[in-house]
Amino acid sequence: MTARSQALSMLRALARKDAGARIIHQFAADPRRTERMGVEAAGLYLDLSKQSWSAEGFEAALDLARTCDIEGRRDALFAGEAVNVTEGRAVLHPALRAADDADFRALGEPVSKGVAETRALMAAFATDVHSGAETGGAKQPFTAIVHIGIGGSDLGPRLLWDALRPLEPTIDLRFVANIDPRDMGEALSGLDPETTLVVIVSKTFTTQETLANADLAKAWLAESLSPKRMVKHLIGVTAAPDKAEAWGCGRTFGFRDWVGGRYSLWSAVSLSVAVALGWDVFERVLDGARAMDAHFLEASPEVNAPVLLALAQVYNVEGRGRHARTVAPYAHGLRRLPAFLQQLEMESNGKGVKRDGSPVDTATGPIVFGEPGTNGQHAFFQQIHQGPQVVPAEFVVVGHTSDAAMDAREGDAPLWANALAQAQALMLGKTEAQARAELIAAGAEPDEADRLAPHKAFPGDRPSTTILLDALTPEAVGALLAMYEHKTFVEGVIWDINSFDQWGVELGKALARAILTDVADGEPSPGLDPSTAELMKRLMV
Ligand code: F6P
Repeated sequence: MTARSQALSMLRALARKDAGARIIHQFAADPRRTERMGVEAAGLYLDLSKQSWSAEGFEAALDLARTCDIEGRRDALFAGEAVNVTEGRAVLHPALRAADDADFRALGEPVSKGVAETRALMAAFATDVHSGAETGGAKQPFTAIVHIGIGGSDLGPRLLWDALRPLEPTIDLRFVANIDPRDMGEALSGLDPETTLVVIVSKTFTTQETLANADLAKAWLAESLSPKRMVKHLIGVTAAPDKAEAWGCGRTFGFRDWVGGRYSLWSAVSLSVAVALGWDVFERVLDGARAMDAHFLEASPEVNAPVLLALAQVYNVEGRGRHARTVAPYAHGLRRLPAFLQQLEMESNGKGVKRDGSPVDTATGPIVFGEPGTNGQHAFFQQIHQGPQVVPAEFVVVGHTSDAAMDAREGDAPLWANALAQAQALMLGKTEAQARAELIAAGAEPDEADRLAPHKAFPGDRPSTTILLDALTPEAVGALLAMYEHKTFVEGVIWDINSFDQWGVELGKALARAILTDVADGEPSPGLDPSTAELMKRLMV
């Protein structure tokens, strides 16, 4: 049995033992629990004391992390080694937010100079768009940007914009991802081609949805602009500039193959947001992420936020069979955080084989879902509180969510008070006896109270983590998203999987191409399964 297997077995055994004690009782057993399971990192505060682990379970999780050489594997990533083992690539998203004088190397090749050069080009472009030095083909200033991309070429930039945009932006930034033409139709509605910049973001510049939408946008521009003028409105952001130029982009901003799609928001992938927000705001996002990188590199495991966040997840998945996690950002500006984390975590760690190709010996990535608070409370929290499955919750709580609220301090309390109350209710629950007593006190007859009490009881003992941000600043958003990237990496190390490829998305793409070929031929292929053939016949009419 390897040291890792032994550490996993110990964690599972202690987790089973922990199941015999309620979370709330762990506080009495360990007066320093909140201190030991609370961690400050790059301006964020994490409270993991409402997780199910006992002090022993917590230590066993840390032992597992150390046994898996978390720190050595982290250093290998930052050193630019080929940690993406199936594609033989480095994984260096930290290089994108490093200082200009950093010296990151990808497989030995110095890359920081190139990063700094691209950032300088992005900054100059953002400044020129705002100053009017950069205009459309008809010499009109740009007042709108349409960002076309999908997956990692959409989710991160979209989240940054939602989180940091002013209420009345000087540039109207719109996002298009879906191949459904309605998505593009809504984005273009009301825009003027002469004052609209189209930014096409695709690492490969081969993604079907993005190319289809780029063609729609080009056709829309062509209705008003000559080909010569139109090129000023078409920017490509890609690791394949030759493809972008061949397609018709007037200018491209590049990034390298050691930037994973779901880890790319720090790169030129966020050009549209950096322009619309202003370069100074985007730089502050990078500053926040860099601060989290420093924390991840320097903090020992027991006070390392990404490590502890990952261990809570591994404890729940491996130790308690809890294969889902709900993420509830209590800030309207973070409403797309669950969607961003779905790609980051599930595309990174939704894997069935280990790095060496052998079947996994763990459960691997959880199902991540969520909605902003308090909306989720009025949608699916019923099940989180009373359903038979225990679904750990993660509350991302922002002390001040907007300038308006900053003025009226009490404006934020109803939001964060709800988040704290939800975490408390999940932990404490309510016994049938308590529910019955409340019913009696409210005037119910004893037999009515007996009848309703089971329906009004809450099992409680349901785990959660709370992450506090003082305010929704660019730095806090950068630190938060970088923390989740590192958390995802740490989980992948423990599960011994490759968190940086995504072969699982390829089969569906290939089959879609085959179906489209059948559509062009006018009938389903003879060998097609009967279900798909029947559905196609109904849709092809
Ligand atoms: O198909 C999955 C995926 O490759 C994601 O990993 C990626 O973020 C997205 O599609 C978009 O890819 P691209 O940036 O190459 O268009």
